[in-house]
Amino acid sequence: MGVNALSLIQIVLSLCSVVHPWPGTVNKTGSICTVIPSVDGSDDTPAIISAFEQCGQDGSVTFINETYHIESVMQTTGLNNVTVHLYGTLLWGTDTGYWRNNSLQLGYQNQTTAWIFGGNNITFMGHGYGTFDGNGQIWYDLAQNESNMPGRPIGFTIANTTNSVFSGIRFVQSQFWSTAITHSENLLLEDIYINSTSTSRWGTSNTDGTDTFYSNNITFRRWSVTNGDDSIAPKANSSNLLIQDSTFYGGNGVAIGSIGQYLNAFEFIENVTAEGITCYDCQYLGYVKTWTGIQQGYPPNGGGGGLGYAKNIVFRDFVANNTRYAIAQITQCTSYVGATGGCDTSKFQISNITWGPGVGNTVTGYLAELQCSAAAPCQNITLVDGLNSVETNGTERLMTCSNVVDPTFGCTGSAE
Ligand SMILES: *[C@@H]1O[C@H](CO)[C@@H](O)[C@H](O)[C@H]1NC(C)=O
Ligand SMILES: *[C@@H]1O[C@H](CO)[C@@H](O)[C@H](O)[C@H]1NC(C)=O
Ligand SMILES: *[C@@H]1O[C@H](CO)[C@@H](O)[C@H](O)[C@H]1NC(C)=O
Ligand SMILES: *[C@@H]1O[C@H](CO)[C@@H](O)[C@H](O)[C@H]1NC(C)=O
Ligand SMILES: *[C@@H]1O[C@H](CO)[C@@H](O)[C@H](O)[C@H]1NC(C)=O
Ligand SMILES: *[C@@H]1O[C@H](CO)[C@@H](O)[C@H](O)[C@H]1NC(C)=O
Ligand SMILES: *[C@@H]1O[C@H](CO)[C@@H](O)[C@H](O)[C@H]1NC(C)=O
Ligand SMILES: *[C@@H]1O[C@H](CO)[C@@H](O)[C@H](O)[C@H]1NC(C)=O
Ligand SMILES: *[C@@H]1O[C@H](CO)[C@@H](O)[C@H](O)[C@H]1NC(C)=O
Ligand SMILES: *[C@@H]1O[C@H](CO)[C@@H](O)[C@H](O)[C@H]1NC(C)=O
Ligand SMILES: *[C@@H]1O[C@H](CO)[C@@H](O)[C@H](O)[C@H]1NC(C)=O
Ligand SMILES: *[C@@H]1O[C@H](CO)[C@@H](O)[C@H](O)[C@H]1NC(C)=O
Repeated sequence: MGVNALSLIQIVLSLCSVVHPWPGTVNKTGSICTVIPSVDGSDDTPAIISAFEQCGQDGSVTFINETYHIESVMQTTGLNNVTVHLYGTLLWGTDTGYWRNNSLQLGYQNQTTAWIFGGNNITFMGHGYGTFDGNGQIWYDLAQNESNMPGRPIGFTIANTTNSVFSGIRFVQSQFWSTAITHSENLLLEDIYINSTSTSRWGTSNTDGTDTFYSNNITFRRWSVTNGDDSIAPKANSSNLLIQDSTFYGGNGVAIGSIGQYLNAFEFIENVTAEGITCYDCQYLGYVKTWTGIQQGYPPNGGGGGLGYAKNIVFRDFVANNTRYAIAQITQCTSYVGATGGCDTSKFQISNITWGPGVGNTVTGYLAELQCSAAAPCQNITLVDGLNSVETNGTERLMTCSNVVDPTFGCTGSAE
């Protein structure tokens, strides 16, 4: 083809691009795929999915330092030996109707997600810059502090993933939970920045940093989480989790559960160590919550009657700055929205949980509120040195207990 013909084609193509969308494309060189975003802001998900199809086995996928528009759900699973570089921003669209009708089922608690991602031996790097922007304000205003809303999507779900590392990624203004990890093992997630902050009168409830299910051996290191709900929440069948050297702002702290939501289902949480956590203005430092033993309604906003246990959990070497309620919190009273009572009915067994040593303060009279169920009293609960390096707002140092077997600290009264 002559040079003139080539130029003519280029001119025609560039004219077309003015009229027609110029969609995102994939530049593939060997097993290296670079996703080039659309020029007109149209949906980049076809190009992203194509890049993972072409380079998701023994390859790499790079997002350049531009903004990608995410207007459709994505499932990129079964990847193997792949490196992902996210140098830009993935910006989720605001068509809440679309997301509510099309988000992908996670298979637990009726939760859904905008992106299911997974495989073996994945290295996903954001280099401290790559960003997931969920455009969450529209969701905070839509949900109006209501609890779970069907189809409100988790931003990014790591599923069926093994032997993988996620680092230097930012999640801002997440739609719902920023991330979830399910059916996964041997993961390291480090230098993760999460910040969901509302600018309206509606809060950021349900913007958990991450929730884990059916997952084993996961390390979370150097997370920064600013949100209005659980900072990190190990849920059903989570084991051998290490949460280290992280800073949480304004959320619920490390929240074990809630769990026990499915009638007669047996679930567990075992071996969770949270160390080197600094919590500013958190509701709690370490929080353990189970549903009552009585089923009322169905998940996500109802349920109860689950069986199982949570054990071998330690929250140590913490700094709790201006804790809004208590350092140590156990409740076995979680119930259908608006329902009360049944707090003595859960058969879900809590044991071997330790808070401390740690320093800081609470802005209430409380250090601990430990409300265990009479149907399965909590065993081997330790508050190291009675949390004597934590200040309260005055002369009271409340450590209330209900159904705590042989506490090694002085309970100051019964927990409601
Ligand atoms: C495609 O990738 C190759 C190799 O990295 C690079 O030389 C080329 O400029 C890229 N093309 C576009 C359109 O980005
Ligand atoms: C992993 O993928 C890289 C290319 O990204 C390739 O060079 C390497 O051989 C692969 N490793 C295995 C074990 O296949
Ligand atoms: C990305 O581009 C912005 C300007 O658009 C620049 O400020 C920033 O440093 C770039 N980041 C990286 C990692 O190259
Ligand atoms: C795992 O990924 C790394 C980095 O891409 C690669 O060097 C290694 O060969 C992979 N191992 C396997 C077993 O695929
Ligand atoms: C579960 O989610 C679907 C859609 O995602 C919704 O139609 C259904 O009402 C939800 N069920 C409950 C109990 O919330
Ligand atoms: C994960 O793997 C299980 C079992 O192989 C399968 O049933 C499930 O659909 C997979 N989930 C995803 C999201 O790929
Ligand atoms: C746990 O996962 C890490 C990777 O994060 C791995 O190096 C380690 O071997 C795993 N531990 C076990 C007991 O499999
Ligand atoms: C979170 O975002 C808000 C609003 O942009 C900002 O004011 C705050 O400093 C951020 N927090 C952190 C820890 O970066
Ligand atoms: C919990 O840790 C103990 C002690 O390291 C170990 O024996 C046990 O197998 C672990 N539990 C699970 C579910 O991995
Ligand atoms: C209790 O939990 C601690 C910390 O998680 C662990 O080291 C210890 O082995 C557990 N004790 C028993 C008897 O499992
Ligand atoms: C009770 O808790 C202490 C402190 O964490 C631990 O050393 C011990 O192993 C636990 N015992 C049982 C039976 O769980
Ligand atoms: C809380 O943090 C502020 C700001 O870093 C600091 O000045 C204050 O001493 C801290 N308070 C406690 C009790 O650690």
